[in-house]
Amino acid sequence: MFIQLTDEYLLGVQVIDEQHRQLCGWINTLHDHLSQKLSTQEITDTLNNLSDYTQEHFSFEEKTMHQAGYPEFALHIKEHRTFLVKIEELMDEYLLLDEEDLEPFANKLTAYLKEWILHHIMEEDMKIRDVLQNSAKSE
Ligand SMILES: [Fe+2]
Repeated sequence: MFIQLTDEYLLGVQVIDEQHRQLCGWINTLHDHLSQKLSTQEITDTLNNLSDYTQEHFSFEEKTMHQAGYPEFALHIKEHRTFLVKIEELMDEYLLLDEEDLEPFANKLTAYLKEWILHHIMEEDMKIRDVLQNSAKSE
């Protein structure tokens, strides 16, 4: 498997952990579809699914952070926005590719997604863990 979310990546907030798993699942699916050299339409569909799911997850995470009164809320949202813009750019880039550029692009794309998501969970989402766990307890 391309990305495997090991225990060290778990926040202990079940719903968010489950969403992170699904998000990595979409990146794994994209990785598989690119390696299998599926059609442009199929890859575009997968990219759209990944992008849709990412937006859904970010909205949920942001709502949860906001409700819990997380102090670095604005900064965290900015990271999410930057990632979504980057996905859009990469999707546009994909559609303009020549056949011979497909493989290096696929490698660059999946490496970027993997690095971003693992780094973001470990460095940023982990910061909200305590705030979220406390607010989950008081619910
Ligand atoms: Fe996040």
